[in-house]
Amino acid sequence: MGKALIIVGSRREGNSLNLANKIKEELKKDRITSYIIVPGNQKIHLCTGCMDCDENGVCDFTDDMEKNIDKVLECETLIFITPTRWNLLSGDIKIFMDRLNPLYSNKKLKDKKMVSIAIGSTPKDVYSNNDAVKSLTNFAESSQMNSILTYEFNNCLDFNDILKQEDNINKLIEKIKIITK
Ligand SMILES: Cc1cc2nc3c(=O)[nH]c(=O)nc-3n(C[C@H](O)[C@H](O)[C@H](O)COP(=O)(O)O)c2cc1C
Repeated sequence: MGKALIIVGSRREGNSLNLANKIKEELKKDRITSYIIVPGNQKIHLCTGCMDCDENGVCDFTDDMEKNIDKVLECETLIFITPTRWNLLSGDIKIFMDRLNPLYSNKKLKDKKMVSIAIGSTPKDVYSNNDAVKSLTNFAESSQMNSILTYEFNNCLDFNDILKQEDNINKLIEKIKIITK
């Protein structure tokens, strides 16, 4: 049974973290191990683009990305949850992705399963979330991960709005269970 790493792109205890907690809780019932990381609440330097990691496979910075990278290596499914920000992924997720370049250089992301989830305030017929999801799947494709599932939540503005979409959450979790089993 595969483990899952859930990366949450919002610092507030809002929709993204609510969804991550639900996923973790439900996976646990099926004895599937998952971890939650909130990069925005950690100490993570911005990538300077020095490219040293292309040479030696490690980053020159010592910060929380070291333990994050251990978790990425341990898990075969990566679940990215981003709040949609200006039709894109959040800055915290982007910083996290940039710092995964050492794993990209060593081809250690290759064939991991990636789930891309965007949560936005706009209604369903507005294309905002599609573009946010695309910004996540672009990363999966570039890093040769297997982009296995995308999911969007609309109409989420206040902290707990997502919890009103129970059916949607359950549908997503069923799919994630199949992927991680
Ligand atoms: C700076 C900023 C930009 C945003 N841009 C968008 C957007 O382009 N499209 C959208 O649907 N929602 C947008 N939103 C709303 C958030 O995506 C929405 O409130 C989401 O539920 C926040 O997730 P969280 O509760 O996990 O922080 C934006 C919010 C902020 C703070």
